[in-house]
Amino acid sequence: MLEQLDLDSVETYIDEKVEDKATSLKMTRHQKRKIDETHVKSIEGLMSGLCLSSLILIQWRLILMKRWRTSLEEVSYTWSFQATSLKMTRHQKRKIDETHVKGHEELDAASLREHEEITKVKNIATIELGRYEIETWYFSPFPPEYNDSLKLYFCEFCLNFLKSKEQLQRHTKKCDLKHPPGDEIYRSGTLSMFEVDGKKNKVYGQNLCYLAKLFLDHKTLYYDVDLFLFYILCECDDRGCHMVGYFSKEKHSEESYNLACILTLPPYQRKGYGKFLIAFSYELSKKEGKVGTPEKPLSDLGLLSYRGYWTRVLLDILKKHKSNISIKELSDMTAIKADDILSTLQTLDLIQYRKGQHVICADPKVLDRHLKAAGRGGLEVNVSKLIWTPYKEQG
Ligand code: ACO
Ligand code: ZN
Repeated sequence: MLEQLDLDSVETYIDEKVEDKATSLKMTRHQKRKIDETHVKSIEGLMSGLCLSSLILIQWRLILMKRWRTSLEEVSYTWSFQATSLKMTRHQKRKIDETHVKGHEELDAASLREHEEITKVKNIATIELGRYEIETWYFSPFPPEYNDSLKLYFCEFCLNFLKSKEQLQRHTKKCDLKHPPGDEIYRSGTLSMFEVDGKKNKVYGQNLCYLAKLFLDHKTLYYDVDLFLFYILCECDDRGCHMVGYFSKEKHSEESYNLACILTLPPYQRKGYGKFLIAFSYELSKKEGKVGTPEKPLSDLGLLSYRGYWTRVLLDILKKHKSNISIKELSDMTAIKADDILSTLQTLDLIQYRKGQHVICADPKVLDRHLKAAGRGGLEVNVSKLIWTPYKEQG
């Protein structure tokens, strides 16, 4: 059946289905949030039973495919929902995602807006993770079989997700993990950091991405977890190491990104863990002998946290440093990319442009005022407890 359809008609068809789904979802959102079954006359084999997020993903893939002028053979391949089905590099993917975000005019703008609207609708309302029941914030494209569940139950150690408490209990009896997989690279007091290689622990990496997307608005969910390292922050006790938050990092970044996504799970937010994770990402950059910057765009909360961190780190140095200091020197000392230093100091109105040069003007009283406004310092990274060597491709 599929071979007889052209890409436009498949797309139009799916657009309609998505609209139907979205409308029905929105209508019942505050009631039972039950997703209706789709009844499809043609291509039933493919479409029946698929719920909203499946349709959205198909729609999204179709938009991508139209741009990439891929063939219908590839279309049929994507129905299988293989995560890595689009054979693009991460860089190409990002380019496309950016084009979708920025270049509305080049695209089918209506489809794009529709996609954006729909993916704002949450599919999973709550999750259970360890001791916490957490209300989710955003849509996350869980595999289709999970999209009739309003609540998902996560194993807090391997991050497998299940549809019922009973299934989770059965899983817990079999699951022997008591901490994230990978290497423990930091332990200070009750705080631990584990480094997880997405290539060695693919399922864990993908589960983490599904989980994280529930709290991340405009980050793309990358399935090619092979290319990433995940740094999992845990609070440890006699029951195990419980995930508090994480950040991901590309193994190789052309753009000198030292952090791709950062998340503190909602029950742990506003306690200084976010700034700890940010500080940790810069400590890794220092060990690599590189400067780093977070992947853009930053969310509002991400920007607030980064601004707070950058302000505190830079102004602490400026306060102590009696002689002139350049942005390059600040960057070498902190591993913060020069652009971020410049923008932070400019936002604080501490930069003047004199004789063709940027000059930092740091009145101690002004610095104190800014430091006070920058919030608390966050939990400290005890660098002597970090045992880590930069990633090297094996083989
Ligand atoms: N309201 C106002 N300010 C806030 C809030 C809030 N709800 N949350 C954080 N901040 C600001 C404050 O300045 C805070 O410092 P303060 O508490 O000393 O005033 C600072 O950000 C950071 O606070 P932390 O406690 O260190 O950070 P937290 O553990 O809450 O984590 C994070 C911050 C990771 C951004 C968290 O809010 C989060 O996970 N948000 C959802 C996911 C997200 O948006 N991630 C960033 C995406 S961008 C990227 O990934 C590159
Ligand atoms: Zn498990």
